[in-house]
Amino acid sequence: MSVRRLAAEQPASFAFTPDNLAWAQGVIAKYPEGRQASAVIPLLWRAQEQNDYWLPKPAIEYVGRMLDMPYIRVLEVATFYTMFNLEPVGKYFIQLCGTTPCRLRGAEDIIKVCQDRIGGQHHVTPDGLFSWLEVECLGACCNAPMVQINNDYYEDLTTENFNRLLDDLAAGRPVKKGPQNARHASEPEGGVTTLTDPALYDGSAVGAWRKRFQEEEAKAKAAASEAGATEKKAADDKAIAAEAAANPKPGKPSDMTAGTKATDTPAHRVAAGKEAVSAADRAKAGDATKSSSDEPSSKRPKAPTLDKASSYAANPNQGEAKKPADDTAKG
Ligand code: FES
Repeated sequence: MSVRRLAAEQPASFAFTPDNLAWAQGVIAKYPEGRQASAVIPLLWRAQEQNDYWLPKPAIEYVGRMLDMPYIRVLEVATFYTMFNLEPVGKYFIQLCGTTPCRLRGAEDIIKVCQDRIGGQHHVTPDGLFSWLEVECLGACCNAPMVQINNDYYEDLTTENFNRLLDDLAAGRPVKKGPQNARHASEPEGGVTTLTDPALYDGSAVGAWRKRFQEEEAKAKAAASEAGATEKKAADDKAIAAEAAANPKPGKPSDMTAGTKATDTPAHRVAAGKEAVSAADRAKAGDATKSSSDEPSSKRPKAPTLDKASSYAANPNQGEAKKPADDTAKG
């Protein structure tokens, strides 16, 4: 949590430069009459930029007058947002992230470098080059630890590369913004490890997902159709079995009488929990066979003798030579 107070030493006055004044009037004109206070943040920011990146009390009052706002309302805005510096800062103002991910990745070491080279927070080096402040997460946690210097981020810091960075800034040498190691943006160190298939970038994969979905859908439909056919066959078999049980075929000729239904078939007897053929019927069938074979041949019925016509009918494969003369043809 930062303490937000106006600096003890303040300039006597503040006014926009002609260029900044013209710009400020353009910003104010964007808002409808009576809503000029909506321009307070851009105007305070421009005032801070003009005044070496800090907001003196005269600048806050100047903006209040331009926007017809009570001073206290403008002061509320300036003290609420930590992007407004209320005291002088170095030419290179370092905002150092001290939140958990950066702490876990070595922010303590970076703080130590700042303390050793610059001094305490809210302190500007005698040459006016550096000051630093610990702030909350700056949203670059994947490149922790990191600092913001003026408007740029410097990430993946170590004591070595941070010291080198401060040396370069102090000497006026060009510096590299972003990650201070060989890493590109927030990619893994050593290069990307995912999405490396070149087909992802040459257009050949366009629509592949659709083809795959269509194939899977067709497979699912075929499986459902096969399951339906099996189910239908089972239902048909069941219906046929039920029909057969309800209307069984006659078990033997003696059960059949014209216009009546068979009621004593093996199926009926099994359905009623009885034997398909009763013991008595089996015995009777066995006796009949026995008595038939034991009967003297003189008592057995004589086989009928066939005349010429009936012998043809009984044996139609004997050929045309034995076919009786066609009476119709003769006549
Ligand atoms: S924790 Fe340091 S940038 Fe988020």
